[in-house]
Amino acid sequence: MGDLITIERHIIEQQYNYPHATGELTKLLHDVSFAAKLIWRQVTRAGLVDILGSADEINVQGEEVKKLDLFANEQFIKAIGHHGRFAVMASEENEDIIFPPKNKYGNYVLLFDPLDGSSNIDANVSVGTIFSIFKRKSTSEEATLEDCLQAGIHQIAAGYVIYGSSAMLVFTTGNGVHGYTLDPTIGEFLLSHPNIKTPKQGKIYSLNEGNYRYLDDGVKKYIKYLQMDDKETHRPYSGRYIGSCVADFHRNLLYGGIFLYPRSKKAPEGKLRLMYEANPLAFICEQAGGRASDGKNRIMEIPPKKLHQRTPLFIGSEDDVKIAEEFEQGLRDIELDEELCPPNH
Ligand code: AHG
Ligand code: MN
Ligand code: MN
Repeated sequence: MGDLITIERHIIEQQYNYPHATGELTKLLHDVSFAAKLIWRQVTRAGLVDILGSADEINVQGEEVKKLDLFANEQFIKAIGHHGRFAVMASEENEDIIFPPKNKYGNYVLLFDPLDGSSNIDANVSVGTIFSIFKRKSTSEEATLEDCLQAGIHQIAAGYVIYGSSAMLVFTTGNGVHGYTLDPTIGEFLLSHPNIKTPKQGKIYSLNEGNYRYLDDGVKKYIKYLQMDDKETHRPYSGRYIGSCVADFHRNLLYGGIFLYPRSKKAPEGKLRLMYEANPLAFICEQAGGRASDGKNRIMEIPPKKLHQRTPLFIGSEDDVKIAEEFEQGLRDIELDEELCPPNH
């Protein structure tokens, strides 16, 4: 049997390498892993909704039964906000920034997507929680929106929890990426994937290809390029798309490949959110040796202008993302078959 290392022990041991570490990160990640367990407990009961009560019914305690994404949002704020470590939080589910109860003591900022892939819940398909942590910048009594609007390069930690065939927490504090799997019998996340590195090139591409018609020509050509036959570059690639970016990203992180949610005529700025999805996944991806951009700019260098800002996203194995960028920028070209894939104008 291998060494059983709990998430806490592993973070503490890593901090020994940094003599000035205050132990704060350990506490922040402990808060997040606790909140994740609360959400996991509910996610694993999702299929019971039909027999225990539906979303707009009243449960046995006389409370309204919440939709899972709203439930996850509340749990996250409740579980994390009361420790006083965060001055301000922002969630995909809340229009404005959130001030947790003991915010005046907090030095940190937490941005999160409480439940990613919520359209998959009813079908028992993997969903997740994504989070991003910054240090507070402001010196005013109350934290400000600007504390939340920091570029991704300033993240001090980021991660996600995937509620799949098992629950797994993956995070980085800027020193590599580690994955921990929840052992439900003891309620602990145990180190299962130390120092994750993503392959330099993969054989998988993931996007919602139903939007093909609405994509820019560069991306259309890239997709056709991936579907062409070429032994040397392992083409054609396999298409894999779950529809929860956290799960698509996680698979590609381990196996190699590219996840893309480009801009389209339907979503001119892309669909995914810079602060809750793109930044944290980009930090993890780069720490694992991968690459993340909007097709042109490094995701983590994009200056955020608003909380719920969207961005196109190309993320995954370094070589795959570089080639996608070349197509997106018109630096590479192939002929599109006029019959099957007419140009987008
Ligand atoms: P969320 O459930 O947090 O709203 O996010 C859903 C996102 C993302 O997880 C996924 O990659 C994408 O939406 C799927 O979008 P399409 O249905 O347009 O493919
Ligand atoms: Mn999401
Ligand atoms: Mn969500």
